[in-house]
Amino acid sequence: MAETNRQWKLQSRPKGLCAPGDLQLVESPLPAIQDGQALAKVKYLSIDPTMRVWMAIDTYLPAVAIGEVMRAAGFAEVVESRHKDFKKGDKIVGLTGMQDYCVIDSGEKRTSFRKVPYIPLLSDTAFLGVLGFTGITAYFGMMEIAKPQKGETLVVSAAAGATGSIAGQIGKIHGCRVVGIAGGAEKCKWLTDELGFDAAVDYKQPDWKEKLAAATPKGVDIDYENVGGEIMHEVLKRMNLHGRVVLCGLISGYTKEDPALESFATILRKRLRVQGFIILDYADRFMEGATQLGKWKMFGKLKDRETIVEGLEKAPEAINMLFTGGNIGKTIVKV
Ligand SMILES: NC(=O)c1ccc[n+]([C@@H]2O[C@H](COP(=O)([O-])OP(=O)(O)OC[C@H]3O[C@@H](n4cnc5c(N)ncnc54)[C@H](OP(=O)(O)O)[C@@H]3O)[C@@H](O)[C@H]2O)c1
Repeated sequence: MAETNRQWKLQSRPKGLCAPGDLQLVESPLPAIQDGQALAKVKYLSIDPTMRVWMAIDTYLPAVAIGEVMRAAGFAEVVESRHKDFKKGDKIVGLTGMQDYCVIDSGEKRTSFRKVPYIPLLSDTAFLGVLGFTGITAYFGMMEIAKPQKGETLVVSAAAGATGSIAGQIGKIHGCRVVGIAGGAEKCKWLTDELGFDAAVDYKQPDWKEKLAAATPKGVDIDYENVGGEIMHEVLKRMNLHGRVVLCGLISGYTKEDPALESFATILRKRLRVQGFIILDYADRFMEGATQLGKWKMFGKLKDRETIVEGLEKAPEAINMLFTGGNIGKTIVKV
């Protein structure tokens, strides 16, 4: 076991993309654990757009304080334990932070750690992606809010990302016509050729609005919204009466100011049911979501893909990839 712990600490709140110096890699002594604590080696970090929000403002969790270890979800293995619920060798997921080692305390609640089961043929990283926060977010967003019906049209934005790619496939499983919106030909090809989406619209092409209209001839019944701004505005214009908008994320606004207020007038006029949600609301039902996702994956009904960035030192670059579109599928840092 190493004697030091490399930790990314927040130095300043980013403006725009995460810039060099916003996070600083520091080495601290490995913490000595007390009774009721365990020490875990972080193996993989989940890289999520919400991390950029945590760096800036208070939302459903307080902003990371200046000087604090950057918050991140991760996959870790217990290496030493004086905690009644965890033993050496246990594999866990939770908010590990962007560091080599994390301490598990007693009394931590629903945002903290849970053990992951051994499932043959399933990689450890799947617990951060298809069976992790993003997959489970897609599951509950689709099953609880979208409630997809056969023959309906579902549009998913950031469709080639971790959440969008699973949400779209759940739509296909339920017999929807699924249209993905993503940046670039490679992502669009992956959506249609590999994941079975009915159409994919490259929003970086000048004629993307016409392409979206052509791909949704019967309008849109479900918008699984990950992006917001102009993309959301364009999809909302095509919504059918009594459509459902899964307001999952608004990534286009995370690095700049974009009120996008006009879209909400459309929501009102068409009596759309829009429901924001935070995946933590379903914390008690994670196993249900993960079990169903695991079954779909094992029966070949769900494909997932990962962008693995090698090295803890690359973690800030990995965060930026989410905003420049450098990832496909779930983005993970191999520590
Ligand atoms: N509500 C919840 O509890 C919850 C939980 C998890 C995630 N989310 C939300 O779900 C969304 C996706 O998260 P994820 O973790 O799955 O990330 P992801 O989709 O794997 O990565 C983000 C993707 O967003 C796209 N993007 C970035 N900036 C954009 C812009 N300005 N316009 C259009 N597309 C843009 C990029 O793809 P392109 O190349 O296609 O642009 C990028 O690959 C985020 O909004 C996130 O906040 C919400």
